[in-house]
Amino acid sequence: MTEAGDNPRVSDPTAASSAAPQAPDLAPVPLMDPKRVYPAWGPAAEQAVVEVLRSHHYVKGPQVAAFEEAFAAHVGVDAAVAVDSCTDALFLVLRAVLQRRPPEAREVILPPFTFVATASAVVNAGGTPVFADVDPHTWNLAPASVAEHVSERTAAVVPVHIFGAPADMRGVRAALAAAGSDAFVLEDAAQAIEATLDGRAAGALADAGTFSFYPSKNLAAAGDGGVVTTDDPELAAKVRALRDHGQTRKMYDHEDVGTNSRMDELQAAILRIKLQHLPAWTAARRAVAARYDEAFATLPVEPQRLVAGAVSAYHLYTVRTAGRDALRTALQAAGIGCGVYYPVPLHRQHCFAELAPSGASTCPVADDLAGEVLSLPCFPDMTAAETERVIAAVRDAL
Ligand SMILES: Cc1ncc(COP(=O)(O)O)c(C=O)c1O
Repeated sequence: MTEAGDNPRVSDPTAASSAAPQAPDLAPVPLMDPKRVYPAWGPAAEQAVVEVLRSHHYVKGPQVAAFEEAFAAHVGVDAAVAVDSCTDALFLVLRAVLQRRPPEAREVILPPFTFVATASAVVNAGGTPVFADVDPHTWNLAPASVAEHVSERTAAVVPVHIFGAPADMRGVRAALAAAGSDAFVLEDAAQAIEATLDGRAAGALADAGTFSFYPSKNLAAAGDGGVVTTDDPELAAKVRALRDHGQTRKMYDHEDVGTNSRMDELQAAILRIKLQHLPAWTAARRAVAARYDEAFATLPVEPQRLVAGAVSAYHLYTVRTAGRDALRTALQAAGIGCGVYYPVPLHRQHCFAELAPSGASTCPVADDLAGEVLSLPCFPDMTAAETERVIAAVRDAL
């Protein structure tokens, strides 16, 4: 499979359907297809883009402020700070948190079964990643493994809601409390917008949350974008300053060494429009996932399980099976888009080998998952016929 065909981070995610169908009369089913929902939001966004262009107000303007207000309300938090990616959202929060800690107490516990940005943000913010293993069924951070790694050196824990399924936040909190740790808890909710745990939205489940608006995400910008959510006014102010060169009181008054991570007005204008459609798009993903759950119940595949009280946003509908590579080959031959996220867990990545030596052999569940997971088509405006074709192809392959 090509890099593009295996990667929902390409800007044309429909490329994931590049496998040629065996039956020439059946069109391929893509892994995801954001083009289909364009008629719902495109015309309004085109108009909004023209208005922003003609306003000549491209940064630090009313669109970003309005988007932040709408997003905070959507998630149910006091503050949202819009930035230029989730990578920077993670980095800025961690920088604010780690600054307050002595250098020898800047460890950050996170799962290795995630996109690289979760860990690279830790390093770039001056921290040391400590990889804790994931649960074999939810594939999210295992509280027992957090308990094994937490110490007085732990500054933060970053549970990732992988594929849109909320991590066991209660378990993580309990593990920290049992160890007497005051570590900051930061949700990497890049994939989990509109996921909920006990009725509360992802992004409102910890001290802060971060989201991605990368083009393949459930809420996608026309480029890069991200946001920080929090109920902590001091942290929100700090991130607001850091995203804009550490300026607080006025221009050219730099209280802190920051960076340029601002969201621009064009992205904010587009995201404001798309946010209104998001509940319908999430509902559509959930309907596809429910049908898959029902159909796969009797097959030798294990869909990602949810912790009690959790509802997934199904950024990716993913199954686990020992025969993953054979299943992938069969689906590709049948014209069904599919992908492996993530083929190499982060504790096995060269770039982290020396930074987190303790993680090298301690995440067996993540190691197994990397060889057994496969994501299937699940997106808004997917047809019932396409869903049934995927199910039939999986059944035939198994
Ligand atoms: C779990 C996770 N964290 C962080 C990121 C980084 O997001 P961005 O591309 O907006 O920087 C991603 C993006 O794929 C992600 O999936």
